[in-house]
Amino acid sequence: MTGLPWYTSFAPERGTLPPRAWTADSDAARLPLGGDWAFRLSPAADAADTSFAGPGFDAGDWRTVTVPGHWVLQGKDGEFGGPAYTNVVYPFPVDPPHVPDENPTGDHLRRFDLPDGWPDGGGAVLRFDGVESCARVWLNGTELGWFKGSRLAHEFAVGPLLRERDNVLAVRVHQWSSGSYLEDQDQWWMPGIFRDVTLLHRPDGAPGDFFVHASYDHAAGTGELRVDCDVPGRVRVPELGVDVAAGESVTVPVEPWSAEVPRLYEGELTAGGERIGLRIGFRSVYVEDGVLKANGRRILFRGVNRHEFHPETGRALDLGTMRADVELMKRHNINAVRTSHYPPHPAFLDLCDAYGLWVIDEGDLETHGFEELGWRGNPVDDERWTPALLDRAARLVERDKNHPSVVLWSLGNECGTGAGLRATARWIRDRDPSRPVHYEGDRSCPEVDVYSRMYPPHAEVGTIGRREDEGPEHRRELPFILCEYAHAMGNGPGGLTEYQRLFETYERCQGGFVWEWIDHGLAHPVHGYGYGGDFGEELHDGNFVCDGLLFPDRTPSPGLVEYKKVIEPVRIAPGERPGTALVSNLHDVADLSSLAFVWEFLADGEAVAEGGLAVPPLTAGERVEVELPPVPAHPAGAEAVWTVRAVLAADTVWAPAGHEVAWGQLPVSAPRPLPAGSGAGPVADGGRILLGPAVLDARTGAPLSLGGLPVSAFGLDVWRAPTDNDEGAPWQPDTRWGTLWRELGLHRMQHRTDAVAVDGEGVTVRSRVAPAARDVGLAVTYRWTSDGTGVRLGVDVVPEGDWPVPLPRLGVRLGLPAALDRAQWYGGGPGEAYPDTRAAARLGIWESTVAGLQTPYVRPQENGARIGTRWLELTGPDAGVRVEGEPSFWFTARRWTHADLDAAAHRPDLVPGDTLWLNLDHALHGIGSQSCGPGVLPEHRLEAAPASFSLWFTPTGG
Ligand code: GAL
Repeated sequence: MTGLPWYTSFAPERGTLPPRAWTADSDAARLPLGGDWAFRLSPAADAADTSFAGPGFDAGDWRTVTVPGHWVLQGKDGEFGGPAYTNVVYPFPVDPPHVPDENPTGDHLRRFDLPDGWPDGGGAVLRFDGVESCARVWLNGTELGWFKGSRLAHEFAVGPLLRERDNVLAVRVHQWSSGSYLEDQDQWWMPGIFRDVTLLHRPDGAPGDFFVHASYDHAAGTGELRVDCDVPGRVRVPELGVDVAAGESVTVPVEPWSAEVPRLYEGELTAGGERIGLRIGFRSVYVEDGVLKANGRRILFRGVNRHEFHPETGRALDLGTMRADVELMKRHNINAVRTSHYPPHPAFLDLCDAYGLWVIDEGDLETHGFEELGWRGNPVDDERWTPALLDRAARLVERDKNHPSVVLWSLGNECGTGAGLRATARWIRDRDPSRPVHYEGDRSCPEVDVYSRMYPPHAEVGTIGRREDEGPEHRRELPFILCEYAHAMGNGPGGLTEYQRLFETYERCQGGFVWEWIDHGLAHPVHGYGYGGDFGEELHDGNFVCDGLLFPDRTPSPGLVEYKKVIEPVRIAPGERPGTALVSNLHDVADLSSLAFVWEFLADGEAVAEGGLAVPPLTAGERVEVELPPVPAHPAGAEAVWTVRAVLAADTVWAPAGHEVAWGQLPVSAPRPLPAGSGAGPVADGGRILLGPAVLDARTGAPLSLGGLPVSAFGLDVWRAPTDNDEGAPWQPDTRWGTLWRELGLHRMQHRTDAVAVDGEGVTVRSRVAPAARDVGLAVTYRWTSDGTGVRLGVDVVPEGDWPVPLPRLGVRLGLPAALDRAQWYGGGPGEAYPDTRAAARLGIWESTVAGLQTPYVRPQENGARIGTRWLELTGPDAGVRVEGEPSFWFTARRWTHADLDAAAHRPDLVPGDTLWLNLDHALHGIGSQSCGPGVLPEHRLEAAPASFSLWFTPTGG
């Protein structure tokens, strides 16, 4: 072979039109070309000839795929191959720009007629919104050209080739191309025509491109509008009385656009026989005094990184799914999105404009796999690639430049450093000076307007916040954002509250973007949701692809519920004066007039009174102490708490009136103490001891039954099935707790009973719990007493030896009959909580089935703990048990053991058994974020230390 085949040449395209602004709102005729396409898969780029593109080709024996779609997710039983997941490494030898001979190639054919009413005359363009990884295109036997850049739009002029009837569109797609070297994002490799294909009529003289410049002067309260267009035209915005020529500036009083108040003005551009709808948002975004500002105000990103993902269709998303994402974000107080790591489907940005989200729009560029090679041969530092890099930058900016929601351009992700990257930054800045430029991968920050980092520990964020960080002088002048933080893999992320405090403390710290929005678990016939390795990949990165705040089916995980609470734009806390609530408006822009405040007064978890609370419409940043009503009458000795909630006063586009935005609880009095549990002494009965409603084993002191309900396997428990964050990442060997805990043997602790002493009042059991082969242990004393109706258990734990690691948990575990399948508790809820993921747990009386207590992480792991439990009732059809605790306790209840949970790799591996395993914990180790980020903060580590706690058990009816 001589020369490089087109798909491995350095050139990004041949025959395409220059990129331009995209709008779905124009009156030009259009023909969507989605639907069923004839499809043929070949194992290599040159395994089949190109005669299929010629006239009269018979594709009768071809298969069918749906466009938009990835072929690897279609067909029966993997007949079209499968998806493959790698995080950093390329799944082929790194020898740019070459790709393997095994290069799955999908030939696609679509016949179409022009619809009735297709205008005579004029031209037409054929538009591809996204094809992975490259496409060569023919229409009616004529080759139009080819392109790379999977998540970028490409158009061809096709006017003269079109026929009224029986047009044949042929597209050859290769999975691998030189472009693949630039698309090493952490996600599934999934080839196909995965975004829309559209035929668009272009009237003669229609505009090629238009650029809406709409800035806001906050001092004057005016907006300046200028719409540039490459042909003469007129711009009208009736609401503003604007009617000017394209290219002409006009300044008018306006309301600005922001994520909180996304004010859009409807307008139109008429040019060259085409009418284009405009939705104009006036806003200015800039760095001033080292702070990123919009319309004169500091903004704080409460953001997420969003990949495009659907468990059935991969990156082919319909509008409903995009809208679901935006609505879910708005309902969870999220105000910003980084489009990691490529420009999204263009319709997503229309939604961001309309609903209000700040967007960091990122280029389709990542060369992370070169890091493994010490960045040798990195394309962003090799001038042969610079035209491809510039092409990608231009296709990002030109397509998306008219969206008010886009406030920063991001060059790409994890590409190291290089001259090519600097060239793209300069090109972008020159083309659109109105938006700051972002890139995380170059710590010296030569070409960017914000200092951006991923996963810095809290302490470092504080240092940066104080502008005490070392490094280039000019960098300290920049605002600081975390383009990624709080790795939401599995259970977690922990530590969100502490990050938020830093963002609120230091002006320079302007928030961040949680990694990431959704788990990329793909529907799998056996595993429910599959991750890396489940589709036969030789090289893969396992479940690192499941690290989102949403489960694959878009059910919010506890992490999202926690994030919503942590970033709530209104904080409700106890006031300094008794009988008051301190209400702070943490919005960047909005006052509180869109919210209504309501209160409930809880006594022992029951609402005894409720009402509305008058809160002044504080402006952004203000706070006030609000007088609460007089304390309502409530039972003596009850634990009393105010709950104050801020809800939407009226319907919005993203949620109905009454939707809860923020809440706070203000304690009034302490929980009731436990019953003393004395008066009914133990009675020896052969090998058993009768103690009130309980029967204990005389040899071990362990309970055998309670009110007739069998109890098994009672004992101290310190183990948990390690979470992804417990397992940690290779670069943190000293805190990979999963490994260190197993090495120490915490998953196979041995229990020794040293003494069972019966006295007139109760039974005292002394025991030692320790791992084999080690000299560390826990001396445990259980003290059982009763008043005849219930039994009280006092537990004292004293560590022995030098404990090298924190404990996963500390509490007791027991087995109960699985028939107890309903839980009701008074404590934190309704969802799970851990020491550093507890902000969203609200005190109340909650109910769930046992099945409903489980959090279905895609890779099973410790989950489902409920915090601050005052009492818990587990009930079956015939019998039940009530547990109270002092201090309050954590509980988990599940029909499999820790070992089962630990062994399971996918959800269906967990099969309910005959025993309900109940853990009643005094303390838990935190969660942290070290599956990629920092570990558990010192205050949330469960160090081995002396501990005492009490529980009270009573039998209840069914
Ligand atoms: C970052 C990267 C993301 C993702 C994340 C870990 O380094 O930018 O794409 O890989 O780590 O999930």
